[in-house]
Amino acid sequence: MKSDYFKSMWEKMQREGYFRHHADYSDHFGQAPSADERVMDTKLLELDFRQDEISMPFGYSQELERSVKRTESEWLYKMFDLPSSGVALDLGCGFGRTTGWMAKQYAQVIASDISSVVIEEARKNLKNMKNIEFCVNEADSIPVSINDRSLDLVYIFTVFQHIHREFAAGILKQVATALKPEGKVVFNLLSDINEQVDDGAEDTEWTIGYSKDQAIALVENSGLSVERLVRWYRPENEVSWLWVCAKSNG
Ligand SMILES: C[S@@+](CC[C@H](N)C(=O)[O-])C[C@H]1O[C@@H](n2cnc3c(N)ncnc32)[C@H](O)[C@@H]1O
Repeated sequence: MKSDYFKSMWEKMQREGYFRHHADYSDHFGQAPSADERVMDTKLLELDFRQDEISMPFGYSQELERSVKRTESEWLYKMFDLPSSGVALDLGCGFGRTTGWMAKQYAQVIASDISSVVIEEARKNLKNMKNIEFCVNEADSIPVSINDRSLDLVYIFTVFQHIHREFAAGILKQVATALKPEGKVVFNLLSDINEQVDDGAEDTEWTIGYSKDQAIALVENSGLSVERLVRWYRPENEVSWLWVCAKSNG
């Protein structure tokens, strides 16, 4: 079955140290940001996140990717009007990078990933935080233990470019049911690349892209409404990111 194959593919990549092989996660494996990189953080946070099209002040680099991650818990709330308390789901949480800051802010966080290998790593990394429930989900679903209308926020960072379109659609349909009436979901998509591709390739970790219209259709066909859609682009680069905040239809 396609979803079982997909799960085993991610288990294998995680067993082989997926995150350690990606330099943009190196802050979490002991690399301290340099003074120049700290300047990058400041410049990034000075952007006007209320614009719908944001030109990145730096060209693409691993340093920019790291800076985006370091400052994420700040720009996210400048860009979107999000619930800041209650119950949050971090879907595709990996080793718990985002779960850590979310657990300081939300009363309860459900941290879930398709890979049991990386969930064990997250459990160890965050063992001192008592308000996190760890789960393993199927390729096209959220954790089965989640009740309808129980979540204030669902956060899905850098996951949907790595999975089949039908899996992303399946996940968002379940998110629509699991959100409280005032709840919201935030996720990002790659754009201006592979927008007509249905099956990605393993050696590119899938790399599926969405146009703005495809992003809107993904949300609306899942029974959610787009609250804001923001495009981050770099003038010299053809690939951009779409950031989507969607809300429950009530
Ligand atoms: C690029 S990493 C991002 C990790 C984390 N969100 C972060 O920003 O640090 C993608 C993660 O998504 C997970 N993943 C892939 N497909 C998934 C799915 N269908 N459901 C949940 N997690 C998935 C992978 O195992 C991996 O940990």
